[in-house]
Amino acid sequence: MIIFKKKNELKVYLQSLKAQKKTIGLVPTMGALHKGHLSLISQAKKINDIIVVSIFVNPTQFNNTEDLTKYPKTIENDTKLLESVSCDVLFYPSVEEIYNTNVVADSFDFDGLEHQMEGKFRDGHFNGVGTIVKTLFDIVTPHRAYFGQKDFQQLQIIKKMVKKHRINIKIKGCAIFREADGLAMSSRNIRLTKQQREAAPFIYKTLKEVRKKFGLENADEVTQWVEDQFKKQPLFKLEYFTIADEKTLETVKNKESGKKYRAFIAIFAGEIRLIDNIRLHNL
Ligand code: PAF
Repeated sequence: MIIFKKKNELKVYLQSLKAQKKTIGLVPTMGALHKGHLSLISQAKKINDIIVVSIFVNPTQFNNTEDLTKYPKTIENDTKLLESVSCDVLFYPSVEEIYNTNVVADSFDFDGLEHQMEGKFRDGHFNGVGTIVKTLFDIVTPHRAYFGQKDFQQLQIIKKMVKKHRINIKIKGCAIFREADGLAMSSRNIRLTKQQREAAPFIYKTLKEVRKKFGLENADEVTQWVEDQFKKQPLFKLEYFTIADEKTLETVKNKESGKKYRAFIAIFAGEIRLIDNIRLHNL
């Protein structure tokens, strides 16, 4: 695996591969890699010649300084993991390399997707995500880019950005990768205490109940039920739960046939924020 810290060196290297008609798959990450990231890489390997993984903890997408400073950084282990799955290229730039001295996000219009859910609670988050993902796309110009469905809103926003900015990159959304007990894999999970980690499968268990309930009960009733469940759970504080239309991400009230829905949840375990979601329609 070749490691690049400088964008221009990476660009030159990738240009020579593109000249040889090699296809490039990009997996953008913030490091602290886990099996969920590895599954994105293995999806990417199926149809691309060269896999580029980026590791960059993007300051402009954090609305909470403590979350940024405490974000796990495990570059040595990450490098070993990437070597073990035969990743071709790691792009590991510094903040200066990406932002120069101006660490601010650009402003994006994602047709309202950015104002739902995460957007309501993480001010400026999606401008930060849009800024870094667009920058990485400009540097790597991959054929395809891979994102996990755990951050479903992020995935929809990136698809919107690619469409609106006419960026010629295929965005691939990959299924949520879960621990054996159902907890969605996240780099933040390693910050959970033993007690919080043991209780955490409760989140996905609740979402599975929601899937059974929605349709028999309307969205307001299901939401009330979820709120009641979390009131009984001393280790977790519910930030939001909502059932939304998969396309518009707008909260819905009733199930209508032919529409696609997902339930979305964000919770705090102490100061650690976890999100998850579940598809509510049949495929
Ligand atoms: O999902 C993430 O890890 C980040 O939001 C991303 C897409 C790498 C941008 O920093």
